[in-house]
Amino acid sequence: MKTYLVTGGAGFIGTNFIRHALTLNSDWRIINLDVLTYAGNPANFEDLPPDVAKRYVFIPGDIQDKHLLDGVFSKEDLDGVIHFAAESHVDRSILGPEAFVQTNVVGTFTLLQRCLEHWKSSNNKEDFRFLHVSTDEVYGSLGSDGYFTENTPYDPSSPYSASKASADHFVKAYHRTFGLPAVITNCSNNYGPYQFPEKLIPLIISNILAHKPLPIYGDGKNVRDWLYVIDHCEALLAVLNKGKPGETYNIGGGAERENIQIVHTLCDILDNRLGSTDNGTSRELITYISDRPGHDRRYAIDAGKIKQELGWSPRYRFEEALEDTVDWYLQNTSWVDSVQSGEYLKWIEKNYHDRQS
Ligand code: NAD
Ligand code: DAU
Repeated sequence: MKTYLVTGGAGFIGTNFIRHALTLNSDWRIINLDVLTYAGNPANFEDLPPDVAKRYVFIPGDIQDKHLLDGVFSKEDLDGVIHFAAESHVDRSILGPEAFVQTNVVGTFTLLQRCLEHWKSSNNKEDFRFLHVSTDEVYGSLGSDGYFTENTPYDPSSPYSASKASADHFVKAYHRTFGLPAVITNCSNNYGPYQFPEKLIPLIISNILAHKPLPIYGDGKNVRDWLYVIDHCEALLAVLNKGKPGETYNIGGGAERENIQIVHTLCDILDNRLGSTDNGTSRELITYISDRPGHDRRYAIDAGKIKQELGWSPRYRFEEALEDTVDWYLQNTSWVDSVQSGEYLKWIEKNYHDRQS
């Protein structure tokens, strides 16, 4: 049996990763350490089948809590750590950057330091891996052409991306200075089930269903490179199993779309699903609002390294997986209702109030 510590596993990608990895690997146990911010939902695991549930352990707690981490590292003979825990929303980092420095920088440092102490005295030094899940946003913005490679210089624009860049540098330093067998992944925008409805795709689905305005920042022509979350999880498994310590792997879907294209597609899918008689009903809800400060224009990943060295490629086509995602939200309205709590409503008011352009 292999045992992995996952941090931030009650959030969007962590949930998908744990569910996918435990189902694929019947000889894995996963310990999920998550402090349960607004973005974390322990109920995401309530429907695990019994043979999977018995290999899943939840520990509520903060990655900044040294004593808690020491307890977990001393009790468990870990095969690795997969580090997702973070504050992840760019707009929140603009309105309240401090939590991003605390969790993404100080939290990652604390986790690395506790991990290093225990790794030095473990019997499983060579096979152990520290997998740091990072973002393409550390590279800043592209113009209308070119791609981010693993050698693109870091040039973060937002407090979120600056905090992730800082965490990446600490992870690299712990490999170079202390030999910790760490690998870093820098991934593009994910979509899929369990994504909190503050991010573009689930926010638009949720607003269409509620007949609320669909907020488009700026001119709507910013480009993101979209990847279905299960493809990301499979890339992470490839890096965990075959990645070389000290290396970075870029992960992307090769599905560049302007934001406005995404919103149009979602309007059309939902009009079709809901049987709207007038074509374009949902498109009437589109509302252009003032731009995100420091808004990166375009992200696009060159995923050549992970394809060539580790044999990973995305399996899901964007338009099909987007339809599956819409269907998941339509079938899980109680999940959406449960996360749209008081805190969520306060956030929507804080971010979108007074932003008409
Ligand atoms: P998310 O916001 O949905 O989930 C984050 C999780 O971390 C939540 O469960 C939260 O409770 C937990 N958490 C926050 N602070 C914590 C702390 N101090 N201690 C323990 N747990 C804490 O985020 P996500 O979209 O699932 O992203 C996961 C990771 O992947 C992040 O590191 C993010 O930077 C990275 N990433 C995300 C994307 C994307 O498109 N969503 C793309 C590339 C990389
Ligand atoms: O690129 C990877 C990153 O992708 C991850 O590191 C982040 O954790 C994740 O949140 C995501 O960041 P983005 O800022 O790209 O995602 P978001 O869904 O917030 O926005 C996507 C695009 O849509 C972006 O150009 C801003 C725009 N947008 C977003 C919202 C929430 C709007 O036009 N209106 C909105 O209401």
